[in-house]
Amino acid sequence: MNICILGLGYVGLPLAVSLSRHYNVTGFDVNAQRIKDLKNANDLTKEVPSSVLVESSIHYSDTQTSLENQDVYIVTVPTPVDSQNKPDLSLLVNACQMIGPFLKPGAIVVFESTVYPGVTEDICGKELEKSSKLTSGVDFFLGYSPERINPGDKVHTVDKITKVVAGQNPKVQEVLKTIYEKVTKVFLAKDIKTAEAAKVIENAQRDINIAFMNEITMIFDRLGISTYDVLEAAKTKWNFLPFTPGLVGGHCIGVDPFYLAECAKLVGVNPEVILAGRSVNDGMGPWIGERIHKKLGHKLSNILVLGLTFKENVPDLRNTKVIDVIRTLEGFGHKITVVDPIADSNEAEKYYKISLEALEKLSGFDCIVGAVSHEAFYHFSSKDFERLGKPGALIVDVKKIWNKNLIPSHQNYLSL
Ligand SMILES: NC(=O)c1ccc[n+]([C@@H]2O[C@H](COP(=O)([O-])OP(=O)(O)OC[C@H]3O[C@@H](n4cnc5c(N)ncnc54)[C@H](O)[C@@H]3O)[C@@H](O)[C@H]2O)c1
Repeated sequence: MNICILGLGYVGLPLAVSLSRHYNVTGFDVNAQRIKDLKNANDLTKEVPSSVLVESSIHYSDTQTSLENQDVYIVTVPTPVDSQNKPDLSLLVNACQMIGPFLKPGAIVVFESTVYPGVTEDICGKELEKSSKLTSGVDFFLGYSPERINPGDKVHTVDKITKVVAGQNPKVQEVLKTIYEKVTKVFLAKDIKTAEAAKVIENAQRDINIAFMNEITMIFDRLGISTYDVLEAAKTKWNFLPFTPGLVGGHCIGVDPFYLAECAKLVGVNPEVILAGRSVNDGMGPWIGERIHKKLGHKLSNILVLGLTFKENVPDLRNTKVIDVIRTLEGFGHKITVVDPIADSNEAEKYYKISLEALEKLSGFDCIVGAVSHEAFYHFSSKDFERLGKPGALIVDVKKIWNKNLIPSHQNYLSL
């Protein structure tokens, strides 16, 4: 069986590697540089080690003719939101338009990109019909299997996550089950819309729970109580949900709820809870920035921000909310220095006009903000704080990764 994966990013590449152990896999990406890097066994997302890429049999390509003669297409292209936070399905539609002319009778097109219920059949299916002149459900078939991988997570890897799989009819479902079962455990969803809905609510649920944590953090700050101390006590109840406050960035949890909200609006339901969660979480960066400014007694300071990526141990800078903290502090007039040993310095410059500095060269800051818990920061010792912070410096531990006792007694510790 020939399988073609469109989009070799965080989702597509690990899947392509796993499937290539069992099938002829073509990995197609429109980004020529990405293809060049992968041919050189270099994965900039750091999800797949070079040693694994060297051994993989994937045929990498950025030319559309490689979409010919494929039995199954798996689409893993981005599904972002636009400047109005509305779903931007243009990359998905574009992928369908690329596949269409090469679609042969009997082929299956599976979507893994996160969408809202109805997109696979009502939007992608129609687009494939238009560009192939074939009929969906008759000449070619659709499937949907949401991706659940968690970038940077070396425990819940693609082979250990139960894969929800749905096909347009029972026969397609069986074919897809056979394929995905080569890689991991499979759960067959009732139909495509159910599988689409399952994925989008997983992330929306997480977003709402974190929003609750962020809102109580704002309340407890006014009351002079530490949220983490409160959580320590509350989680001793058997059914307390162990979420923590923080910045919600990236292109899944901070984006997918807008897909669900759009779907709600399309069917005439006002997605109050979903959008309230988004609004609280999007307000967290500025809130943290204001809180730091207040704790510094409104005194203009030299501030070191540790971490810029959207989450720990991942190089992805897209939609990072650390930038909201930085911009808020800059808005008050503070001077900001940013260190991130994992992020690509060219990307930091390109996306945010931030020039990343090397930690070893730095010392003597008025304030240190631990914004992302990269491993390099996790293992800080008292000596690191002594060198990086002046006497009296404010140490802000956004992710509560440091033991308070590590902070020299002449410095001040602040967490959420
Ligand atoms: N990153 C995650 O943790 C994660 C987890 C679960 C689900 N998802 C979902 O999976 C999808 C992909 O996310 P990602 O993080 O892998 O994105 P990504 O940006 O890392 O990778 C997507 C790749 O698709 C390529 N691409 C764009 N248009 C294309 C086309 N027409 N044909 C071929 N390639 C094309 C891009 O060049 C890029 O390399 C999104 O819908 C996302 O919401 C992501």
